[in-house]
Amino acid sequence: MIISQSFLKGSVKEKMDALQSEVDSPATVVLSDSADPATHAQLMTDGCDAVLYSGLAVEQIRNVIETILEKRSRLAQKRFFAPQPLAEPRLSDFVSQSSGMASFMNLVPRVVQSESTLLLEGETGVGKERLASAIHSEGPRSNGRFVALNCGALPEHLIESELFGYVRGAFTGATASRRGWFEIAHNGTLFLDEVGEIPVHLQVKLLRAIQEHEVQPIGSEKSFSVDVRIIAASNRPLESDVESGHFRRDLYHRLSVVKVVIPPLREHPEDIPTLVNRHIPYISRQLGRRVSGISEKAMDVLCRYSWPGNLRELNNVIERAILLCDDMEIDLVHLADPSERTLGKGISVQKAESPRDHSETDSTHHLRLPKHWLGKQLKDVREYLLFDLERQYIEGLLIAAKGRIGEAANKAGILERSLYGKMKKLGIRKEAFRS
Ligand SMILES: Nc1ncnc2c1ncn2[C@@H]1O[C@H](COP(=O)(O)OP(=O)(O)OP(=O)(O)O)[C@@H](O)[C@H]1O
Ligand SMILES: [Mg+2]
Repeated sequence: MIISQSFLKGSVKEKMDALQSEVDSPATVVLSDSADPATHAQLMTDGCDAVLYSGLAVEQIRNVIETILEKRSRLAQKRFFAPQPLAEPRLSDFVSQSSGMASFMNLVPRVVQSESTLLLEGETGVGKERLASAIHSEGPRSNGRFVALNCGALPEHLIESELFGYVRGAFTGATASRRGWFEIAHNGTLFLDEVGEIPVHLQVKLLRAIQEHEVQPIGSEKSFSVDVRIIAASNRPLESDVESGHFRRDLYHRLSVVKVVIPPLREHPEDIPTLVNRHIPYISRQLGRRVSGISEKAMDVLCRYSWPGNLRELNNVIERAILLCDDMEIDLVHLADPSERTLGKGISVQKAESPRDHSETDSTHHLRLPKHWLGKQLKDVREYLLFDLERQYIEGLLIAAKGRIGEAANKAGILERSLYGKMKKLGIRKEAFRS
């Protein structure tokens, strides 16, 4: 936005603040009749992005503006595709209106101040890690570190060294000592995600570390004390692993001094409108879009869907809808999968009765791409589309294999573990394919 200085009579700062508060606030270039550097400095202090003397040659002014536009476009692209962390996890993220969440809501405030070991159970994507992080940052250990270790994603032989560290020479390749996560989390919280994946032979060592607050790095003769709060998580009932002999009963009892089960989203659909309305402005801002709401019909579809991937899937659907939406409001058409026109399984999303603007979409219709994607780089578009195709492919395999991971992984020619990893990233749950 180019402003002549006469427009800025009165408080420049107030006008700049008003402009900056817009969702898509413009870059402001002021053409000043004054060549005085002090006047220019004051205008920049008040929030103008650039101040140019109006006596400059037109060519010079054009160069400055082109550079500013280029910078903005690069920044917008970066923001658009960069993975954005959600705002700091807070306990208030989990506030619920639903009676299905009542016992969960009763228990959580009590565990925040305590030092007890905590076991969080719940399906994938319900927010176990987010809750653990919120408990840490609102509890007495908030000055220490919150360290999250996904035991399911680590090869078995690395879990021990990751947890407890090792000393130089402990094994071939240990050319220097390395601290383990217990030590790194000293005075803080150690979050052991997918704790059921820890092999039985290591469970004894973990139990000892938790009970005696002491760890012994691999290859060391000495142990040392650590002060760590343990929060463990599992996306299947850990007790079933105890029954099947894959998890030690004594460790289970030690971890589950307090057990909190986070219910799946389908058990508290009353919360979906609040979650959606809280997410839209947040994600919209993160992506630099102006979407600020959702139509009644679209909200209705979200409320009726069963959300096998829980909060993770809901967030992904909203983010995708915001990317596809050129208006202020998300509508049915933005929730649809471009090829299937369904949102997950079970809920059909009808085509919009009259597409909003034929002239805008016609030229790109055969590509099934929103027009503004043509302004993006190939690598970004490719990454986004591959994500979608990969999800459809894996869902197809799981449907054919009736949820049997081994069979699906075999067909895909990858290891079960890496299929699990992909499913998690894509928000796919095998249980959804069992029937
Ligand atoms: N109450 C919430 N409000 C907003 N976003 C949430 C909430 N709970 C979880 N999320 C988001 O959903 C996604 C999944 O959450 P998280 O990783 O904590 O789930 P999880 O239960 O640990 O899943 P998994 O078992 O697959 O590891 C994250 O992006 C998280 O920020
Ligand atoms: Mg997790």
